[in-house]
Amino acid sequence: MTDTTTQRKILVTSALPYANGAIHLGHMVEHIQTDIWVRFQKQRGHECIYVCADDAHGTAIMLRAEQLGVSAEEQIAAVNRDHQADFKDFLIEYDNYHSTHSSENQALSSSIYLALKEGGKIAERNITQAFDPEKQLFLADRYVKGSCPKCKAEDQYGDNCEVCSATYTPMDLINPKSVISGATPIAKESKHLFFKLPEFTEFLREWTRAGHLQPEVANKLAEWLDAGLQEWDISRDAPYFGFEIPGEKDKYFYVWLDAPIGYMASFKHLCDRRDDLDFDAYWGKDSSHELYHFIGKDIVNFHALFWPAMLSEAGYRTPTKVCVHGFLTVDGKKMSKSRGTFVNARTYLEHLDPEYLRYYFATKLTGSVDDLDLNTEDFVQRVNSDLVGKLVNLASRTAGFVKKAGGTLSANIADAELWQKFVDANTLIAELYEAREYSKAMREVMALADAANEYIAAQAPWSLAKEEGNEQKVLDICSLGINCFRVLMTYLKPVLPKTAAAAEAFLNIELNWPQSFEFLGEHHINKFKALMTRIEGEKVQAMIEASKEEAAAHSKTTEANEASADSWLAKEPVAEEIEFNDFAKVDLRVALIANAEHVEGADKLLRLTLDLGGETRNVFAGIKNAYKPEDLIGKHTVMVANLKPRKMKFGMSEGMVLAAGPGKKDIYILEPNEGAQPGMRVM
Ligand code: 2FM
Ligand code: ZN
Repeated sequence: MTDTTTQRKILVTSALPYANGAIHLGHMVEHIQTDIWVRFQKQRGHECIYVCADDAHGTAIMLRAEQLGVSAEEQIAAVNRDHQADFKDFLIEYDNYHSTHSSENQALSSSIYLALKEGGKIAERNITQAFDPEKQLFLADRYVKGSCPKCKAEDQYGDNCEVCSATYTPMDLINPKSVISGATPIAKESKHLFFKLPEFTEFLREWTRAGHLQPEVANKLAEWLDAGLQEWDISRDAPYFGFEIPGEKDKYFYVWLDAPIGYMASFKHLCDRRDDLDFDAYWGKDSSHELYHFIGKDIVNFHALFWPAMLSEAGYRTPTKVCVHGFLTVDGKKMSKSRGTFVNARTYLEHLDPEYLRYYFATKLTGSVDDLDLNTEDFVQRVNSDLVGKLVNLASRTAGFVKKAGGTLSANIADAELWQKFVDANTLIAELYEAREYSKAMREVMALADAANEYIAAQAPWSLAKEEGNEQKVLDICSLGINCFRVLMTYLKPVLPKTAAAAEAFLNIELNWPQSFEFLGEHHINKFKALMTRIEGEKVQAMIEASKEEAAAHSKTTEANEASADSWLAKEPVAEEIEFNDFAKVDLRVALIANAEHVEGADKLLRLTLDLGGETRNVFAGIKNAYKPEDLIGKHTVMVANLKPRKMKFGMSEGMVLAAGPGKKDIYILEPNEGAQPGMRVM
């Protein structure tokens, strides 16, 4: 049973989003799940601190910044602003949102590493890895592509084949290529540092069975423990965006070493600004405070193996619970950019109210690791039926009669049995929230809403009010209706904080979660204002369409900015079937390359001046590695003449030239046959 008599002290985290992309609805599953839990604990009167941060380190972020022509620090600052705005607008209320690229995190990461080293838990050895000779960069498996050594399938990543499932190392690939530069990687040796995880096997066997994990997660971990743990490579060679490892030269902590420490660092950053919070009381070895991590099922190994092992070795407490959730599907399928079901948080917010999704996810979330589905039809139907048809309707059909009677609720409980139902549900609903069984909690709440609405419909105060002498009866019935609404809103406050705030203004009270509800009689309420409107199905469709367009525009911008078929970002699927009319919209023209020149600071671009038979265009093309500018001048080529001008790092690009080939030196601009004159339409 949830104990509300003693105040618990709980620190809660959601996984730290990477600083190289936008927040999408997949992230929102977790942050909504966590936020509901935190709001519930706060409403129950506990000290519950919710921290998060951006996960700002790693090669991907370094390359993304480079591609955008900004420093990594500038890039992560911009992303941090966007992330925080998205979460805020989804009503996610962190006590602190920080970054792993912070002084607190650097200090904590270094001291934890030194404690591991001091304890003899760090090993050193040389390993051989794929190395990009052009970028002078060691390549993680996903930055190398080639043909599978087993089944020969082309275009496979460096760790496993998606066609035959073979596993291998990048250098085993046939014709391996660096995804970053297109160069052929070489094998190169360097020293790496390893965390000796196998030495924690016994500790972890016990820890994973000590009630910190869902049973299905503990079972999965038991399989891994039985199979034998491997040492964990925690260092990366320069160049890398991260923290340098103390006592080493040109070696950085692997992003996953300092990411979970980012939870502590965000909390430390908060403690430094709040006198009432004590870092050691939460993180000390013998802390009696609670620590909850909410994460997705893909990152269990980091949180339930490496993390408790590191914490215990470095003299800190370990998590009370690691709460693992499943993935989001949309209409029964994996989120997809081309179907428009990969929806960014901001795109959702441009079309729909965040509380709709908070409620819908609550109706789907359980304490298990099962995936959950956002069914777009069911979403509209459920929100409209439950929130508008049941919850808001209960207040809107009774408030007017109370107001007419002077605005003060009657203390007579018109139906004691019904009221008792609402009072009695308290413990169960609280227990369901505590266990993250939100879907069951929502079912209980909606069953109460049904009971209250049935009662009001049966009593029909609107009919009673037509006859004189029924005034008190009508007021009693509607006062019970309003009291039921108040209890429902209290139970839903963690899910619907905005509506709850409006309900508090209407009810003229704060919706705290008491041990037991007292009937609210002889209490003045305010004028009722509509609390929520119905979802229009078209808005959901519009959001899907907008997501499709964004995905298409994103792949185009990526191509245009990089203008290179070997860009690591251009690997997202681009081609989908189009209608003839779509093709007909593309205005292809013969162009004369009137001038071509290098662009200072650009690795891949040439600036072309294209003559369209009277009109000239400035176009940046990613063909520097394939052509000398002087060899291009005077050639005819084909360009997309009606491409909307795009602002690139080096200026506006007013079109695009057509070229073929895998990239780098092997790019061939299309050249029309003799006779084709500048400006002619290509069909
Ligand atoms: O998987 C991810 O998105 C990681 N950025 C999560 C990090 S969680 C924590 F360990 F920092
Ligand atoms: Zn294969």
